[in-house]
Amino acid sequence: MDGIDQTLLEAANRVRKNAHAPYSGFFVGAAILADDGNIYAGCNVENAAYPQGSCAEASAISAMLAGGGRRIKRILTTGPGKEPVTPCGGCRQRIREFSDLDTPVICVGADGKKPLFSTLEQLLPHSFGPEFLDK
Ligand code: THU
Repeated sequence: MDGIDQTLLEAANRVRKNAHAPYSGFFVGAAILADDGNIYAGCNVENAAYPQGSCAEASAISAMLAGGGRRIKRILTTGPGKEPVTPCGGCRQRIREFSDLDTPVICVGADGKKPLFSTLEQLLPHSFGPEFLDK
Protein backbone atom coordinates (compact mmCIF):
# COMPACT_ATOMS: atom_id res chain seq x y z
CA MET A 1 0.00 0.00 0.00
CA ASP A 2 1.45 3.38 -0.92
CA GLY A 3 0.58 6.95 -1.83
CA ILE A 4 -2.75 8.25 -0.66
CA ASP A 5 -3.68 5.01 1.13
CA GLN A 6 -0.53 5.17 3.21
CA THR A 7 -1.42 8.74 4.16
CA LEU A 8 -4.95 7.67 5.05
CA LEU A 9 -3.62 4.76 7.10
CA GLU A 10 -1.35 7.07 9.07
CA ALA A 11 -4.25 9.43 9.77
CA ALA A 12 -6.52 6.56 10.83
CA ASN A 13 -3.86 5.03 13.06
CA ARG A 14 -3.16 8.39 14.67
CA VAL A 15 -6.79 9.03 15.56
CA ARG A 16 -7.42 5.40 16.55
CA LYS A 17 -5.27 5.95 19.62
CA ASN A 18 -7.79 8.56 20.79
CA ALA A 19 -10.79 6.23 20.63
CA HIS A 20 -13.00 6.00 23.69
CA ALA A 21 -13.52 2.25 23.80
CA PRO A 22 -13.42 1.19 27.48
CA TYR A 23 -16.16 -1.42 27.00
CA SER A 24 -15.03 -3.30 23.92
CA GLY A 25 -11.34 -2.45 24.04
CA PHE A 26 -11.64 -2.39 20.25
CA PHE A 27 -9.99 0.81 19.01
CA VAL A 28 -11.04 1.77 15.47
CA GLY A 29 -9.86 4.57 13.22
CA ALA A 30 -11.28 5.81 9.93
CA ALA A 31 -9.86 8.35 7.51
CA ILE A 32 -11.59 9.98 4.56
CA LEU A 33 -10.13 11.71 1.53
CA ALA A 34 -12.85 14.25 0.80
CA ASP A 35 -13.82 16.22 -2.27
CA ASP A 36 -12.11 19.33 -0.89
CA GLY A 37 -8.78 17.51 -0.95
CA ASN A 38 -8.53 17.29 2.82
CA ILE A 39 -8.26 14.21 5.01
CA TYR A 40 -10.74 13.83 7.84
CA ALA A 41 -10.34 11.20 10.53
CA GLY A 42 -12.49 9.81 13.32
CA CYS A 43 -12.43 7.19 16.06
CA ASN A 44 -15.11 5.19 17.81
CA VAL A 45 -16.72 6.78 20.85
CA GLU A 46 -18.42 4.33 23.18
CA ASN A 47 -20.87 5.12 25.95
CA ALA A 48 -21.89 3.47 29.22
CA ALA A 49 -25.35 3.35 27.67
CA TYR A 50 -24.07 1.01 24.96
CA PRO A 51 -26.39 1.89 22.04
CA GLN A 52 -25.32 5.53 22.29
CA GLY A 53 -21.82 4.74 21.12
CA SER A 54 -20.69 5.70 17.64
CA CYS A 55 -18.36 4.14 15.14
CA ALA A 56 -15.15 5.59 13.79
CA GLU A 57 -16.68 5.99 10.33
CA ALA A 58 -19.53 8.07 11.74
CA SER A 59 -17.02 10.28 13.54
CA ALA A 60 -14.95 10.72 10.38
CA ILE A 61 -18.05 11.66 8.38
CA SER A 62 -19.00 14.22 11.03
CA ALA A 63 -15.48 15.66 10.93
CA MET A 64 -15.67 15.87 7.14
CA LEU A 65 -18.93 17.79 7.15
CA ALA A 66 -17.85 20.05 10.00
CA GLY A 67 -14.60 20.80 8.19
CA GLY A 68 -16.24 21.72 4.91
CA GLY A 69 -15.92 18.50 2.93
CA ARG A 70 -19.11 17.22 1.31
CA ARG A 71 -18.27 13.95 -0.45
CA ILE A 72 -16.15 10.88 0.30
CA LYS A 73 -13.62 10.19 -2.43
CA ARG A 74 -11.90 7.38 -0.56
CA ILE A 75 -12.22 5.92 2.93
CA LEU A 76 -9.94 3.67 4.96
CA THR A 77 -10.72 1.86 8.21
CA THR A 78 -8.36 0.17 10.61
CA GLY A 79 -8.50 -1.56 13.96
CA PRO A 80 -7.04 -4.35 16.07
CA GLY A 81 -6.25 -7.83 14.90
CA LYS A 82 -4.78 -9.32 11.77
CA GLU A 83 -8.00 -9.27 9.79
CA PRO A 84 -9.02 -6.07 8.00
CA VAL A 85 -11.63 -4.15 10.00
CA THR A 86 -14.58 -3.63 7.70
CA PRO A 87 -17.32 -1.04 8.27
CA CYS A 88 -20.37 -2.37 10.09
CA GLY A 89 -23.66 -2.54 8.21
CA GLY A 90 -24.87 0.77 9.60
CA CYS A 91 -21.66 2.51 8.59
CA ARG A 92 -21.86 1.12 5.07
CA GLN A 93 -25.15 2.93 4.79
CA ARG A 94 -23.65 6.09 6.31
CA ILE A 95 -20.84 5.98 3.74
CA ARG A 96 -23.47 5.44 1.01
CA GLU A 97 -24.98 8.84 1.82
CA PHE A 98 -21.78 10.71 0.95
CA SER A 99 -20.07 8.62 -1.73
CA ASP A 100 -20.56 6.93 -5.08
CA LEU A 101 -21.06 3.22 -5.67
CA ASP A 102 -17.51 2.93 -7.00
CA THR A 103 -15.92 4.83 -4.13
CA PRO A 104 -12.97 2.82 -2.79
CA VAL A 105 -13.25 1.45 0.76
CA ILE A 106 -9.92 0.17 2.06
CA CYS A 107 -9.95 -2.00 5.18
CA VAL A 108 -6.81 -2.76 7.15
CA GLY A 109 -5.89 -4.76 10.25
CA ALA A 110 -3.50 -3.59 12.94
CA ASP A 111 -0.38 -4.80 11.19
CA GLY A 112 -1.32 -2.96 7.99
CA LYS A 113 -0.74 -6.10 5.97
CA LYS A 114 -3.13 -7.66 3.45
CA PRO A 115 -5.49 -4.70 3.04
CA LEU A 116 -8.93 -5.45 1.66
CA PHE A 117 -9.68 -3.20 -1.30
CA SER A 118 -13.40 -2.90 -2.05
CA THR A 119 -15.87 -0.50 -3.49
CA LEU A 120 -18.88 0.67 -1.57
CA GLU A 121 -21.09 -1.32 -3.94
CA GLN A 122 -19.22 -4.52 -3.15
CA LEU A 123 -19.79 -3.96 0.56
CA LEU A 124 -23.37 -2.78 0.17
CA PRO A 125 -24.97 -4.30 -2.95
CA HIS A 126 -28.45 -3.34 -4.14
CA SER A 127 -28.37 -0.40 -1.78
CA PHE A 128 -30.85 2.31 -1.01
CA GLY A 129 -29.63 5.90 -1.32
CA PRO A 130 -30.57 9.55 -1.54
CA GLU A 131 -31.57 9.37 -5.21
CA PHE A 132 -34.48 7.08 -4.32
CA LEU A 133 -36.05 10.02 -2.54
CA ASP A 134 -35.65 12.25 -5.60
CA LYS A 135 -34.38 15.17 -3.53
N1 THU B 1 -16.65 -0.18 15.34
C1 THU B 1 -16.33 0.88 14.55
O1 THU B 1 -15.95 1.96 15.03
N2 THU B 1 -16.47 0.73 13.20
C2 THU B 1 -16.91 -0.41 12.61
O2 THU B 1 -17.28 -0.39 11.46
C3 THU B 1 -16.91 -1.65 13.39
C4 THU B 1 -17.15 -1.44 14.85
C5 THU B 1 -16.54 0.00 16.79
C6 THU B 1 -17.87 0.10 17.48
C7 THU B 1 -17.51 -0.33 18.88
O3 THU B 1 -17.05 0.82 19.59
C8 THU B 1 -16.35 -1.30 18.69
O4 THU B 1 -15.88 -1.08 17.38
C9 THU B 1 -16.74 -2.75 18.85
O5 THU B 1 -17.82 -3.09 18.05
